[in-house]
Amino acid sequence: MPTIKINDVEMSVNPGTLVLDACRTVGIDIPHYCYHPALSPVATCRMCLVEIKGQPKLATSCTTTVPPAPKDNPDAVVMEVFTNTPAVADARAGVMEFLLINHPLDCPICDQAGECKLQDYSYSYGSGDSRMAEVKRRYRYEDLGAKIVIDKNRCIHCTRCVRFTKEISGGSELTVASRGSHLEVTTFAGKSMDQNPYAGNVVDLCPVGALTSRDFRFKKRVWYLKSVPSISRHSALGSPIWIDHEGNEIHRFRPRPLEGKETTHFISDEERYAYKRYNRAGQAPVPTLKGVPASLDAIREALQAAGPMSGTTAVIGQGTFGCDAAQRLGELATSADLRFGSGDKTIPVVLPKYQTSADGILNRRGFTERGFRFGALEELLAKVQSGAVKAVVLLHDVAFTSDKESELLGQILKAAAFSLALETEASALGRAATAWLPITSFAEESDFIINHDGELRRYQKALQAPKGVRTVPAWVKDLAGVPATV
Ligand code: SF4
Ligand code: FES
Repeated sequence: MPTIKINDVEMSVNPGTLVLDACRTVGIDIPHYCYHPALSPVATCRMCLVEIKGQPKLATSCTTTVPPAPKDNPDAVVMEVFTNTPAVADARAGVMEFLLINHPLDCPICDQAGECKLQDYSYSYGSGDSRMAEVKRRYRYEDLGAKIVIDKNRCIHCTRCVRFTKEISGGSELTVASRGSHLEVTTFAGKSMDQNPYAGNVVDLCPVGALTSRDFRFKKRVWYLKSVPSISRHSALGSPIWIDHEGNEIHRFRPRPLEGKETTHFISDEERYAYKRYNRAGQAPVPTLKGVPASLDAIREALQAAGPMSGTTAVIGQGTFGCDAAQRLGELATSADLRFGSGDKTIPVVLPKYQTSADGILNRRGFTERGFRFGALEELLAKVQSGAVKAVVLLHDVAFTSDKESELLGQILKAAAFSLALETEASALGRAATAWLPITSFAEESDFIINHDGELRRYQKALQAPKGVRTVPAWVKDLAGVPATV
């Protein structure tokens, strides 16, 4: 590997590494706007300039790569980079002044305030005052469909959003029109971004507040939000996300890119806006037995009477829950072959690079590794109808099951002498069970999944569950009067 020096610190990096990335590995963060690891480099913003020994002009670190080591002298220093010289500081201050020429002082009303790269870099590298005496260019804000609003006054023309629609989502809805001070980011005539199932990503990509989410606009100042690392339950791979919440309420889901994993930079709009179903409304649900509120003791006794004491118990686990939940649920089954998997949601593959499976049951693998058999519910129905299985425990979320599967599950619950459903909110199917227990949503618990690519992905608790709503392992522990035989 070639050796380079960054601010006199020697390091070895792979040939072809971007200078900007090499600087990051030694903890030097180079300011940048147009660079994004998942997009093609364009070097338009000029914010990432660095000094390279032997080069007459400053160079853009987002497009300059480390050359290979010479064959006859592999230990030679191939490049000396300086990121803290007066020339670099002057260039950054100049670029900031240039970018702010037309940028309004919108921060008090801008959604990006608090996570805006213009604010951050202006504070760190800007000059502190402006020589702009002319009137700033003005546009009215525009709707780009139902999801995205653009405020062109704030745009710094980095073209990240344009490159995203061209290179990643492929619809090319956004383009750059006109030239010079009239240059503007806009959609082709008559086009909106509504048809783009990944449109929400342009809001994350925009380093300033030009592209905003209609859903989040003016709702919450970002510095009030706490961010908890989690995963998207509504993707095939359990995409890493941040849950941004405040006051026990989720306000948005955002992608949480993993280092060196390009496929984790973006999430679909279905995943992004799914946060709404994890905010509880109304009163906390309570355990029920035969449709009326009941104690856990009463439910445990009923389960024992039907299952372990006089017959057999089968469990049905939907593969959208965590592995801890699967493990504990599995312990309620009388034998290893009485663990059944459910869930049949599919997700159309729009971007094959970012979605390697159409299976919407993201932890199918984790459940399978814990002995759950998918596609065998007909077998369970026959066992219940014949009386070989007396009690059935169902772990279920209605969003991940089709009408056809729901009907089959309904027949199983109806045929069982005793059935217990574990759900976050009672569905029609859950209400048809003999007993019902309220469980935490994935935002109210910590667990992990094994996705379709075999990757272990953890998620952490963001919200406090209402009193009396518990995790699956906690309920199973308290149903422990049921002896586990496997
Ligand atoms: S709208 Fe945002 S992302 Fe798009 S070019 Fe302007 S500043 Fe860049
Ligand atoms: S980040 Fe390098 S020129 Fe914009």
